[in-house]
Amino acid sequence: MDNKKFQEMIDEFTLDSDAIKDVAASFRYDIEHGVKETGESSLRMLPSYIGLPTGKETGEYLALDFGGTNLRVVLIRLDGEGKFEVIKKVAKPLVVPGEYDFICADANADELFDFIADMIEEAVDGNRDKKYLLGHTFSFPSSQTNIYNARLIIWTKEFATKGVEGEVVNDLLKAALARKNLTNVEPTAVINDTVAVLLAAAYKLGNVNIGSIYATGHNTCYYETFTGMGKPAMVINMESGGFNKLAINKYDYKLDMESEKQYEQRLEKMVSGRYMGELLSYCLDDAWNIGKVEFTSIDISTILADNSDSLDEVCDLLKAKINADITTDDAIWVKALAETIASRSARLVVATYCGIMWHLYPNGGIPKQFVAVDGSVYEKMPTIKDNMQKAIYEILGEEADKLELVLENGGSALGAALAAAMEPVEC
Ligand code: BGC
Repeated sequence: MDNKKFQEMIDEFTLDSDAIKDVAASFRYDIEHGVKETGESSLRMLPSYIGLPTGKETGEYLALDFGGTNLRVVLIRLDGEGKFEVIKKVAKPLVVPGEYDFICADANADELFDFIADMIEEAVDGNRDKKYLLGHTFSFPSSQTNIYNARLIIWTKEFATKGVEGEVVNDLLKAALARKNLTNVEPTAVINDTVAVLLAAAYKLGNVNIGSIYATGHNTCYYETFTGMGKPAMVINMESGGFNKLAINKYDYKLDMESEKQYEQRLEKMVSGRYMGELLSYCLDDAWNIGKVEFTSIDISTILADNSDSLDEVCDLLKAKINADITTDDAIWVKALAETIASRSARLVVATYCGIMWHLYPNGGIPKQFVAVDGSVYEKMPTIKDNMQKAIYEILGEEADKLELVLENGGSALGAALAAAMEPVEC
């Protein structure tokens, strides 16, 4: 066991208070340049053409949640007053190993959208008479010219289906629905999942300006008023996973070089669930020369959850993965490393929230508000919430208690239904 090696790796992933304050400041810089469209921002700052809900929205809508490997179609009734009811839910994975895979480079757009149309058919019980308005949460960077027209700029999260990049996703969906004779289902609105989380939280709680996903992928949106700029207020999908004013270490570099889209999504590759396990794999290979052994963020969660002295669970997991004798001492170092990878992730994510606060309230005086977050990393990975809270205090000091992080669970479907119910912002 090379303790020195592990200590070096831990140091490479450690970000102190000054480092995260610097990240918050450069993130704010990129927001401001993005809003002014100076060309100097690494944030895409995509207009969503939607504002915040009043909380009074009502009616029955179909919601399509397309953002990760699990696809959901939900029939939802909005009852106003922040209330809603799920009437029917159909959920299916986009990949079943050995059976089908709609997200690999061998799959094409028609196959993917036909699969989605089948799920929609199931959600409406084959009904071809009743009119359904469909809100679509599509969780990939898309450029919009209105609430309907969202064109996929680039796949992220290692999706690679052919024939979707550059296309208007709702046109692909409409065509697939037409092939199934389901023209009574009308896709009307497309939003990003961060926007869905923000809308869902605003509908239920009010008093929220930030919506964020901390899961397989990572991204954040916020409500921008464009004060004094003569533009209508609306939610902006920052595509913050693409923020790139960050120092990377050699493991980040290696991961990037071996990813589907090199030089893209720098922040996301440092923080999200899709990549944290992979970073651990590269580190363990560097320490132990074991080649590429696959670790996932669920493995990281298992490692972080073992609080026993002997770290038996960590030892068992490592033995099973790398087929070698592992001592408690080894496990202690691996756990310390996993903790640092997770802590770096939480601290970077929070730095971006604080950067938004500095942009929204340049003279200080942050009003009390919620920050709505959804996603498995936020919800389930041990240590994440504590590290986020701690980092908020380190960056915002006395103003830290103005921000309350809330889990907006499953907001993607509710947000999509709200987007279908709301009046869009016209420009
Ligand atoms: C996508 C974002 C999305 C995030 C969370 C990222 O990979 O680019 O659009 O919001 O994942 O799902």
